[in-house]
Amino acid sequence: MTGERIIVFDTTLRDGEQSPGFSMNIDEKVQISDQLARLQVDVIEAGFPIASEGDFEAVKAVAQAVDAPGVTIAGLSRVLLKDIDRAWEALQHARQGRIHTFIATSSIHMEHKLKMTPKEVVDAAVAGVRHARQYTDDVEFSPEDAARTDIDFLCEVLTAVIDAGATTVNIPDTVGYAMPDEFGARIATIRERVPNIDRAVLSVHCHDDLGVAVANSLAAIHNGARQVECTINGIGERAGNASLEEIVMALQVRRDYNHHYTNVKTEEIFRTSRLLSSITGVRVQPNKAIVGKNAFAHEAGIHQHGVIMDASTYEIMTPQSIGKTQSDLVLGKHSGRHAFRKRLEELGYQLDDEALGEAFVAFKRLADKKKEVFDEDLMVLMRDQTSPVPETFKLVYLHTTSGSETLPTATIRLSRGEEVFQDAAIGDGPVDATYQAIDRITQVPGKLLSYSLRAVTEGTDAQGEVVVKVSFNGEVVTGIGHSTDIIEASAKAYINAVNKAVYWQRKPTGEVEEPRATP
Ligand code: KIV
Ligand code: ZN
Repeated sequence: MTGERIIVFDTTLRDGEQSPGFSMNIDEKVQISDQLARLQVDVIEAGFPIASEGDFEAVKAVAQAVDAPGVTIAGLSRVLLKDIDRAWEALQHARQGRIHTFIATSSIHMEHKLKMTPKEVVDAAVAGVRHARQYTDDVEFSPEDAARTDIDFLCEVLTAVIDAGATTVNIPDTVGYAMPDEFGARIATIRERVPNIDRAVLSVHCHDDLGVAVANSLAAIHNGARQVECTINGIGERAGNASLEEIVMALQVRRDYNHHYTNVKTEEIFRTSRLLSSITGVRVQPNKAIVGKNAFAHEAGIHQHGVIMDASTYEIMTPQSIGKTQSDLVLGKHSGRHAFRKRLEELGYQLDDEALGEAFVAFKRLADKKKEVFDEDLMVLMRDQTSPVPETFKLVYLHTTSGSETLPTATIRLSRGEEVFQDAAIGDGPVDATYQAIDRITQVPGKLLSYSLRAVTEGTDAQGEVVVKVSFNGEVVTGIGHSTDIIEASAKAYINAVNKAVYWQRKPTGEVEEPRATP
């Protein structure tokens, strides 16, 4: 293969996770990091250990959980020595750990935020890198706001930190200000003017405030950058980071033009994107490049005709190349276990006999309600089946009444282990009544912050997917539920949030306040 390998540094769990609406807890971060390892990214930045106890524990858990050869786990830290100590404490068990340390170098940041002189900043950067090198020989340094940093000063800082032992130097466009040609030229200048640049990997980290983060990253690659920092679905601070799937597919599809390549297993892209959406409850916009719902849809008659004649008329890459199969009818209620297993395998799920048996029962239940079971339905079903959160409370029975002249009421039966509890409530509408009845049973009352509903696939018998954000004592939890009945999907979403809250309190269920038993 000609060209060079570009290192893919994924920061979904750090820059992505720190943006509003995307927070994840430890289990969710581990689940994502397992999938990132399957996607074969090179570096997973798992968090910012000094930022909070939760971040520390999450980085530690990811460092312990991911054991894939070739995958490095990074933790972010300021150049303060105590931050670096904390970062390494979290990372020390990783198969390969990287300390990523940063300090701002633009005059705006140095004057207004750090209140430090340029000399103090260089000294702090050098001291930080030296300290980090005592722990590991894999140290990355970022001059924050590098795109707006005076180029002479930037070269001076980079030279100093490479001398101090930085093995990767990253050029962040922290505020998404740069334009592609300009950013590419900056990378070329760094390569020309930093005398020891050959001793470090040159990396870029672009934000998307002006919608050019991917273009800037590609321009940087053309000018010598060999690591790109990016996120799944392009999530990240403000307008987000450069999207991993867009960079990777641009390199792959336009290899003739871009020359270089990555190690990413592109067939895992779609699954990774959907896993992130299902965990955060934030869906990708339909027209998003590569992973949007419409990215491979052909609506105009002339396009459909062309694609039927030869897909290459309007498709520059195949849906299969990102792990997406056409949403044709795949299974129905007469489909057998063998066809079900085969389809799941084609979608990338390998199940043992027991797990397959359970999934098959859930599939049959769905197929009884829904004539046509599409791939998207199967993916949703598998996400429910493989959730690491135990179903402490399970929906057994739900009856609601509502109407323009009726007081909305809900009767609910939930099981917990062998026990079954029942209660009823009235509310502003059937969903509100349902949630109140659930609260009365579980005694884990939550405050509903947001509620959204969408159809998973097309058609009047489509499954509804409800995503709720619920606050339990200030801790925000995302719950997701699916059903062909939207009130049932609403109930399942709320119960899912309750189950996560119970599980994440890390209490054995016996310690959770007893449910009200009114069987
Ligand atoms: O955007 C940024 O500058 C960052 C750095 C910490 C790399 O996220
Ligand atoms: Zn950033």
